[in-house]
Amino acid sequence: MSSIKELISQMTLEEKAGLCSGLDFWHTKPVERLGVRSVMVSDGPHGLRKQDDKADHLGINESIKAVCMPAACATAASFDRELIGSMGEAIGRSCQHEEVSVVLGPAVNIKRSPLCGRNFEYLSEDPYLAGEMAAALINGIQSQNVGTSIKHFAANSQEHRRMSSSSNVDERTLREIYLPAFETAVKKAQPWTVMCSYNRINGVYASENPWLLTDVLRGEWGFQGYVMSDWGAVSDRVAGLAAGLDLEMPASGGINDRKIVEAVRAGELDEAVVDRAVERILTVSEKYLANARPETEWDLEADHLLAARIAQDCMVLLKNEGVLPLNREDDIAFIGEFAAKPRFQGGGSSHINCFKTTSALEAAQEQGLSVTYAQGYSVAQDSASDEMIAEAAAAASSARVAVVFAGLPDSYESEGYDRTHLDLPASQNAVIEAVAAANPNTVVVLHNGSPVTMPWLDRVSAVLEAYLGGQAVGLAAVRVLYGDVNPSGHLAETFPRKLEDNPSYLFYGGEADEADYREGVFVGYRYYDRKDMDVLFPFGHGLSYTTFACSDLRMSASEITDQDQLTVTVTVTNTGSRAGRAVIQLYVGDKESTVRRPLRELKGFEKPELQPGESTDVTFVLDSRAFAYWNRDLHDWHVETGEFTVEIGQSSRAIELCGTVTVKSTVKLKKHYTKDSIFMDIMEDPDAAKVIQPLLNEMGKMFGPGEDASDAASEAISAEMGMAMMRYMPLRGVVSFAGGAADADMLDHLLEALNSL
Ligand code: BGC
Repeated sequence: MSSIKELISQMTLEEKAGLCSGLDFWHTKPVERLGVRSVMVSDGPHGLRKQDDKADHLGINESIKAVCMPAACATAASFDRELIGSMGEAIGRSCQHEEVSVVLGPAVNIKRSPLCGRNFEYLSEDPYLAGEMAAALINGIQSQNVGTSIKHFAANSQEHRRMSSSSNVDERTLREIYLPAFETAVKKAQPWTVMCSYNRINGVYASENPWLLTDVLRGEWGFQGYVMSDWGAVSDRVAGLAAGLDLEMPASGGINDRKIVEAVRAGELDEAVVDRAVERILTVSEKYLANARPETEWDLEADHLLAARIAQDCMVLLKNEGVLPLNREDDIAFIGEFAAKPRFQGGGSSHINCFKTTSALEAAQEQGLSVTYAQGYSVAQDSASDEMIAEAAAAASSARVAVVFAGLPDSYESEGYDRTHLDLPASQNAVIEAVAAANPNTVVVLHNGSPVTMPWLDRVSAVLEAYLGGQAVGLAAVRVLYGDVNPSGHLAETFPRKLEDNPSYLFYGGEADEADYREGVFVGYRYYDRKDMDVLFPFGHGLSYTTFACSDLRMSASEITDQDQLTVTVTVTNTGSRAGRAVIQLYVGDKESTVRRPLRELKGFEKPELQPGESTDVTFVLDSRAFAYWNRDLHDWHVETGEFTVEIGQSSRAIELCGTVTVKSTVKLKKHYTKDSIFMDIMEDPDAAKVIQPLLNEMGKMFGPGEDASDAASEAISAEMGMAMMRYMPLRGVVSFAGGAADADMLDHLLEALNSL
């Protein structure tokens, strides 16, 4: 490190300012006279999108041939840290081979609404799941000595007006919902870089937000790497640099570099801030360069098979009335253009130039399966002619089982804009209806990056959610459909019955540049569960060709403090007749709390593999954070003393076991009382209650039993009413209502006594 400092000491101010922005679209700048080399960064995140010099960042120009792994919408559904880690290792190897120092990902923004155009790139509506999966991917990639850039930091949950919109989010919601995925990834995986988002947060651009980029990211979480801007996210470069934005991407044509130099010369910016940014950037680049291994082999075919293995463990069996798995001997009809040309990735900066793809039709034919094909609908025309529908129905009626491959066309969801509805193309819905009418054994396979409505759900026998499963999705789908692989994906998001049910529905997108996150912490299942609302498929849902049961919930203690850990163990048994993997989820809920909290929140998950009849114990360790909420007075996490539920289930709506633990807080919340504090709040603290009790007794007389309280019972009721009426009275009320027993001086003394407790 000292050599980097030494190098920096030899640089001119112009050279240093220059290093704070890119050379072009994808490279950092060199300083040749000092031997500082330029390094490359590339998208990401589910494969390598390395572009040549004629680069653009929207995926218009071709990039090198690479392997498209399943997108984040799919990988999150695997609930499998190891699997996503192995995907990271493969991506890391491809970067080593291609001399890329940093992959631009993972993208971990919370799926606030199913409308966000980029949801296919994001992991979940749940911050715990998103954080765990992001950390696993980062650790996998960085194990190959290639950096990552976790993005888009932060609160970037819409594409609409993405470069100017302000995400107006209260402190608690930011801390509980929109920041934790970043926090977990930083703490567990220390990404080499962080990419700040385009949007503003409560009015301040993420790219020039010192609270976000420095206080929270570095001060609280201990981030060590450098922060880069999203492409073109810089508004005021000098303010950004001071706030902690180290590298501006892409190149700014020298304009912003000059502004940095001028600001230093004018005494408006400390040169040490420039040195700091350069040191951070060079430290990361050096880490890569010191162990660069361009000789690393990149076996595209092997990665294609890995992509299939990952995709098959991500698919979510949403519904199955027994028609799946298919028999290899049966005549099956594959219907829908996506059977021959699957949609397996989304549009925009993550778009990968695949070296090959495998469709379900090809995979089935290669395996000699008896499959007929009807196109059903045209993706390009967004239509299905009467002939196509008739042909689909005919193919369906002459097969034992009809499998319709449906989903969203590219134009329906992409980076750069949001969706306006949740529906599949009408043409595809019409084909599904016609096929279901022709054959009761109809299966729907879905290729989409975000929830869709399913008006035909009651009329089909099975639904397999394949998401955007990467270039080998067809092979994976055939393996799952025919039972070579037992499906084990579970939803990382809720599928609502209709768009209007979504908690952000009334506010999503915002008005002009103000996007108010008014639903607060009630995002996804946190809302649906609190409202006890019917959903199409709940968070965490996923079926298997076998069944699992959870039993024997054990907890290491029935009472702990907020300093302790709680170990939770359950036995999981495969109660069916096939080997398979269960996704066991642990949710925590505060039974009674002074703040409004979700009914349950995911705090642990494990994915054991079990043979038929086999049992295993699964263990979770919960620390105080699992019970905490963000307290806006403390500006910190806080656990309220009381009882918490610990629930174990196979979805947020399939809870099988429930235990209770009492957690005792060791933190006394210090309240500041004023003359406007109301009696009810003061009485809540037993020490404060003692101070005001004498006064209360006096006042109780005023509001106490009236003259007509003739017997003991009505006297008691009347006393109770008196107290009830006084609950909301501010302390200053004593001057008017204590019947001369209190004056302004006394009030001051009282407040002094209360505030010195
Ligand atoms: C996207 C980023 C991406 C960058 C570089 C931006 O438009 O928001 O996710 O990494 O371009 O392509």
